[in-house]
Amino acid sequence: MLTRNEGFANLTAGYLFPEVARRRREYAAAHPDAKIISLGIGNTTEPLPKFIAKKMADYALGLATPEGYSGYGDEQGNTELRKKIAEVWYKGLADESEVFISDGAKCDIARIQTLFGRKVKIAVQDPAYPVYVDGSVIVGAAGKNNGTGYEGVTYMPCTPENDFFPELSVVEPNSLIYFCSPNNPTGAVATKEQLKKLVDFANKNGCIIIFDGAYREFIRDPSLPKTIFEIEGARTCAIEINSFSKPAGFTGVRLGWSIVPNDLKFADGTSVNRDWNRVMTTLFNGASNVVQAGGLACLEPEGLKAMKEVIDYYLENAALIKKTFEGENFKKAGAEVYFTGNSPYIWVQFPGLKSWDVFDTLLDKCRVVTTPGSGFGPAGESFIRISAFGHHADVEEACKRLSELAL
Ligand code: MLT
Repeated sequence: MLTRNEGFANLTAGYLFPEVARRRREYAAAHPDAKIISLGIGNTTEPLPKFIAKKMADYALGLATPEGYSGYGDEQGNTELRKKIAEVWYKGLADESEVFISDGAKCDIARIQTLFGRKVKIAVQDPAYPVYVDGSVIVGAAGKNNGTGYEGVTYMPCTPENDFFPELSVVEPNSLIYFCSPNNPTGAVATKEQLKKLVDFANKNGCIIIFDGAYREFIRDPSLPKTIFEIEGARTCAIEINSFSKPAGFTGVRLGWSIVPNDLKFADGTSVNRDWNRVMTTLFNGASNVVQAGGLACLEPEGLKAMKEVIDYYLENAALIKKTFEGENFKKAGAEVYFTGNSPYIWVQFPGLKSWDVFDTLLDKCRVVTTPGSGFGPAGESFIRISAFGHHADVEEACKRLSELAL
């Protein structure tokens, strides 16, 4: 019989969001009349802007005509879309040859690990989007969980005490550093000065940063960097991974991209971009052509305007959620709320309590699903994350229930 990939045996828990969904299902089965509202997974809820959906529909209909039909496209993505991303979202900070179109950021994060193999050292912000660590365990770059975390992973705590920016000196030279800003789950956005520190550290210590910018369009403070390539020196130490999921509501449609600078090199001087091209042409067959037509529509002026309106809508939810958790009942319970207005996530600490216990209380007493902070890493314990994705009416109802909760 074949031996099981030991990475799977090393994983100590199921993937966070299916586990949250399982608990919700269990609760719903036991309380069939409960109207449960999900502020858990960051899943978009608002309809696609018509302009964008129509471009996809037109493209799909074109496929039914001899002139409009096309089969496989370039694995790296439609040239026009690559060019448009470089122009609109990077404004000359990246060249189209450095843009690779994909089926989403999570898939790119998984595939990118093939570039570095199982011997690479990993450093993650703690808490962090679980794919960085779980993906590293599956490919064998991280080992067993010794109770405080996985072997081979350096956890960089990001807490209120350090303003959610980690102490970098704990990272070993030649590590792969995962860094997410605006951060999932804390909502913190690194300033230019903070990212400069990170970039300088990486260049000095032979590290490569995987910069996850999936929430960049939620940044409303113009002084905050939307891409790591705004930082001098990033082209020799960083890869950026990004997505249309959150700005365009493409969570189900699926479209993302990565930026791998031509200046980025491995220790032997070979090009990271060239190997990434090999990965994308070998392990991927290009994003759906229909969806790429939608991506192009997003980047037209009408698409950009429509995306901004949807994000404004979610940010209004976020402001209401923040206010709710700052209410008297939560204050009395010692809750601390962290939200800067530049992300769809609100991060709330309940000092002395366990995240899953808070999750259970809010589910049981308010029928509101949140995400337990401990699921994002050891430093997330005692926190919960509340997602601002949701219809206004549902968020208002959830906030009403939460504000009436006696703690
Ligand atoms: C989250 O809730 O953290 C994300 O939306 C999940 C995902 O994007 O995979």
